[in-house]
Amino acid sequence: MGLCVYSLAPHHSFGLPSLASEFLSINIPVDLKAQLSELGDVTFYILGEGSNTIFLENYQGTIIKPAFMGIDLKQTETYFLLKVGASENWHNLVLWCMQRNIDGFENLASIPGTVGAAPIQNIGAYGVEIEKFIHHVEYYDLNTKSHNSIGSTACEFTYRSSVFKKRLSDNIIITSVTFAIPKDWRPVTNYGELKGLLKPSAKDIFNKVVDVRMQKLPDPSKIGNAGSFFKNPIIAFKQYNKLQQSWPSIPSYAVDNVSVKIPAAWLIEQLGFKGKKIGGIGCHPHQALVLTNDGSGTGEQLLQLARAIKTAVLSEFTIELENEVRLIGKKGPIVL
Ligand code: FAD
Ligand code: EPU
Repeated sequence: MGLCVYSLAPHHSFGLPSLASEFLSINIPVDLKAQLSELGDVTFYILGEGSNTIFLENYQGTIIKPAFMGIDLKQTETYFLLKVGASENWHNLVLWCMQRNIDGFENLASIPGTVGAAPIQNIGAYGVEIEKFIHHVEYYDLNTKSHNSIGSTACEFTYRSSVFKKRLSDNIIITSVTFAIPKDWRPVTNYGELKGLLKPSAKDIFNKVVDVRMQKLPDPSKIGNAGSFFKNPIIAFKQYNKLQQSWPSIPSYAVDNVSVKIPAAWLIEQLGFKGKKIGGIGCHPHQALVLTNDGSGTGEQLLQLARAIKTAVLSEFTIELENEVRLIGKKGPIVL
C-alpha cells in the first residue's frame, strides 16, 4: 500500500473512469492474516477481473486484489478432482480442461472473470450452472481471521446467487475452488441454439457456445460492458398467466411447479430501450440485457438509463428487475 491513487478503469470491464485510494494485491493464502493486518478498519472491495463489477465513481477505500494461482488435478475412478486458485482465469481453465479431455465445462466457455468469482453468482450459461461441478470452496474469513472450507450444499446455490452473496457477502476472500467433474460425460444441449446439435462432442458444444456468444455479446476489450446488467426475473405462474393476456408472446422458462423465469431482455426490448443511448451509455442493439459504455460514458448516465429501464418494466409489467452486476459507489455497493 502507498499514498498513490489507482485508476480502476482498466480493472473493470465496463471501463468507467474511477480511482481508488489504495490497491492491495495479496498472493499468499496461508499468510493472509499478516498481509491484511495493515487493513485495520477501512472500507474495502475484493476484486477479481471486474467483469461483474462497475465502479460508478471514485472509490474511497482499498481494493483487495487476490492473486492465487495454480491448478491441481487428482482423479478417482469416477471423477476428476480439480483444485484451482481463485485468481485463475475461468475461460483459461475451460481450455486447460478441454486440452486434457476433461469434459463438462464446455457450455460455460467464454464467461469472463476469475475462478474465485464463479461460485459467488453461480455462473451459468447455455443450460449449465457451475454449482453442478463444485465440490467445495476454500476461503479466508476476514471477521474470524481464519481459513475455512465450505461444501457444495452449504453454498446454497440458486440462480445467480449463493451463500457468498448472502451470509458470507464481502467478509471472505475465496482462495480456491475444488471441482468434481464426472468422468461419465453427458452433453447438455437443451438451451436455445444448442438444440440443433446432434450427438455433439464437448468440442462441438464449446465451438457453438463460443460462436453464439461472439455474435450476441459485445467484446469488453472493444466496448465496455459487464454482461447481463439485470437478472432474469422469476415470477409466479399466476402473474405470468395474467401478463399473457396483454402480451400473448411473452417468453418464459419453467423453474418449478409454481414459477417461471422471464427473459428480461424481452421485457426491455418491448419497451423500446434496445439500441437507445444516454450519452456514452447504451442498451446493446443485439442484446437488450447488456448495457454498454462507448468509452465516454459516466456513472451518472449509467444510473439514469438503468433506473429508466427498471421503472418502465415495473410500470408496464409489474416486475421488479434486480441488477445482476455489482454497482460500486464511493463508499461501497449502490442499490438501483
Ligand atoms: P468481479 O467482478 O471482480 O467480482 C464479482 C464479485 O465477486 C464481487 O462481489 C467481488 O467482490 C467478488 N469476488 C471476486 N473475487 C473474489 C474472491 N477471490 N473472494 C471473494 N470475493 C470475490 N456471468 C454468467 O454467470 N454467465 C454468463 O454467461 C456471463 N457472461 C458474461 C459476458 C460478458 C461479456 C461479461 C463482461 C460478463 C459476463 N458474466 C457472465 C458475468 C461475469 O463474467 C461473472 O460474474 C464472473 O464470475 C465475474 O468474475 P470476476 O472475476 O470478473 O468478478
Ligand atoms: N431476447 C430478446 N431481446 C434481446 C435478447 C434476447 O427478446 O435483445 C429474448 C429472446 O426471447 C431470447 C431470450 O431473451 O430467446 C434469451 O436470450 P439469451 O439466450 O441471449 O439469454 P439471456 O436470458 O438474455 C442469460 C444469461 C446470460 C447467459 C445466457 C445464455 C442472465 C441474467 N443472463 O441471458 O448470462 O450467457 O442466458 O445462457 O441470466 C451474464 O450473466 O452476464 C450473462 C451474459
